[in-house]
Amino acid sequence: MADKVKFGIIGIGNMGRGHSLHVKKISNVELVAVCDIDPKAFDRLDAETRAKVRCYTDSESFFNDPELEAVIIAVPHYFHVDLAIAAMEHGKHVIVEKPISVHKAEAERLISACAKYPDLVRSAMLNQRTLQAHVKLKKLIDSGGLGKIIRINWIITTWFRTQSYYDSGDWRATWAGEGGGVLLNQCPHQLDLMQWLFGMPEKVIAQVKIAKYHDIEVEDEVNAYLEYADGSIANFITSTGEAPGTNRLEIAAERGRLVLEDGELRFTRNEVEVSTQIKEAVGGFAKPETWECKINIPEDVRQQHAIIIENVANAILKGEKLIAPVEEGIRGLELGNAMLMSGLKNIPVTLPLDGAAYAEMLNGLIATSKYLKKSATGVHQGDMSSTY
Ligand SMILES: NC(=O)c1ccc[n+]([C@@H]2O[C@H](COP(=O)([O-])OP(=O)(O)OC[C@H]3O[C@@H](n4cnc5c(N)ncnc54)[C@H](O)[C@@H]3O)[C@@H](O)[C@H]2O)c1
Repeated sequence: MADKVKFGIIGIGNMGRGHSLHVKKISNVELVAVCDIDPKAFDRLDAETRAKVRCYTDSESFFNDPELEAVIIAVPHYFHVDLAIAAMEHGKHVIVEKPISVHKAEAERLISACAKYPDLVRSAMLNQRTLQAHVKLKKLIDSGGLGKIIRINWIITTWFRTQSYYDSGDWRATWAGEGGGVLLNQCPHQLDLMQWLFGMPEKVIAQVKIAKYHDIEVEDEVNAYLEYADGSIANFITSTGEAPGTNRLEIAAERGRLVLEDGELRFTRNEVEVSTQIKEAVGGFAKPETWECKINIPEDVRQQHAIIIENVANAILKGEKLIAPVEEGIRGLELGNAMLMSGLKNIPVTLPLDGAAYAEMLNGLIATSKYLKKSATGVHQGDMSSTY
């Protein structure tokens, strides 16, 4: 059996260029081909890679490359589904960048196509699942260590972006080009983690602000309230217009309060479960006694995207379980779609989301758009490693 999987990358922009460097850190992966509709994109590759890989400007020839076994799809979101399906039709394993598509109905189209190719490995690039803090958090929650969750609060406002970022590509932050703003580009990571850690809510009520901080036509601030079937609730707050911004996940549970912030996990553990204390305590204000627990998070020694790519290679070579199967990518997307729909229509949205109604709303936004992008500078953002 081969010991290396021959990979290709389609879309050599900010992220695709990044992946061309990530693959160098993985012993069982070899980059053999790249594709971009803009031939200038190949100049973004380092000299060693540029000299080694075959460069294509049309996806059909790229997918027909006989050596290619797996592809990473790193083009703007609207093209993810068609290209992922085309890759599978050509017998290639796929990694689809986040979000797997722009809206739920398209994600369903991709997932139905996946079912036709059970022998191919299909992953989403939900790289934040690999961060040790998130792995630890998931273990703690799944083990029942927190008891029943009562309330979740995620403030994720560290996704600051400048106007120059939005101006760098004509697809960015438009309904037709990107299908949304912070919920479609930056937050897919946290939206996925929300569902990965806590499951899907059954109701979403959100406020979204369009172009509050930037000259764009999509949302750059969101304040959402979620309700789960078991009665727990959540608040999810995000923005690309705030600095320095906050990334704080607070979980109030029966057994105490867990906070993930500044790379630390702090658990204030109740000696008695909250519901028991409410029922049985004698004094009117007596909270449970607590213990302060510092939970050690192992160091992130490996680059997060490289872990996903290596996992896919291992899945192909030896059947390793996927960290982020593409089919799971629909859930965070659905959550973001529900927030946008609730905010734009000013209505509570119940889940499962009506994918056709969402697609109709989005098509309406595209059809009635009056927004004109002043400039697409095409200036690439260089090192993005501080922004993942
Ligand atoms: N996982 C992460 O941490 C992460 C981080 C950044 C971006 N992304 C995702 O990567 C994708 C690309 O984002 P980006 O910031 O690199 O965009 P970008 O604009 O910098 O690059 C996109 C590239 O795709 C090329 N392209 C466009 N349409 C194409 C097509 N049909 N066929 C071939 N090439 C095509 C463009 O010419 C460009 O070079 C997005 O979906 C984004 O959400 C993921």
